[in-house]
Amino acid sequence: METSKQKIATKHIQPKILYYGTPVILLSTLNEDGTVNISPLSSSWALGQCIVLGIGLGSKTFENLQRHQECVINVPSPELWGNVEKLAPYTGKQQVPEWKLPLGFSYNKNKYEAGDLTPTESVAVQPTRIAECPIQIEAQVRHIRIPEHTSFMAIVETEAVHVHAHEDILIGDNHIDPRKWSPLIYNFRHYFGLGTELGKTYRAET
Ligand SMILES: Cc1cc2nc3c(=O)[nH]c(=O)nc-3n(C[C@H](O)[C@H](O)[C@H](O)COP(=O)(O)O)c2cc1C
Repeated sequence: METSKQKIATKHIQPKILYYGTPVILLSTLNEDGTVNISPLSSSWALGQCIVLGIGLGSKTFENLQRHQECVINVPSPELWGNVEKLAPYTGKQQVPEWKLPLGFSYNKNKYEAGDLTPTESVAVQPTRIAECPIQIEAQVRHIRIPEHTSFMAIVETEAVHVHAHEDILIGDNHIDPRKWSPLIYNFRHYFGLGTELGKTYRAET
């Protein structure tokens, strides 16, 4: 049957990365001495109260989550991209992994100072929350899996146990207003905010 739809040309490509645009999170985890490490991550997604994280095995974050199964998923807004980028070249691992050295990574234990961010006590977990992030999700680690096909990453399943939101992004008592809130998007290693609203799904409550 004839179709009037125009054919769109595609090309086979082999990109080194597949970061096609996901929100940035800043994950707080507990160091062995009770201080807090922060790592920028873009690999996360939520299903109900479960938030799944993709975390490199060579990171301090992974080491911390194996030892202490609590974290805070702090979600920054676009104006915090500079703070996120300040953290980008650091690892909380004193022995910087070999492969990270040529990439310009160095050890820094005080991530709050490095990122110009402020710690706030959490309610249900030990790692602190980041005051500047409009959404802060305290979570428990429920399962850690290292996939055979991608052995340098762990898939970490967490369960949200306490959610905090800045009052100025709320609509009513219990909803985040999508017109006031925007995530910071990591789009093929560039930072973006959201564009204008296009519409909403039939199940939207706001
Ligand atoms: C915007 C951004 C997104 C990132 N996303 C991830 C990610 O999803 N998973 C990951 O393992 N590392 C990610 N990284 C790299 C880690 O932040 C980096 O390896 C860092 O050194 C880890 O810190 P840590 O060793 O103190 O845990 C990202 C970095 C940036 C700047």
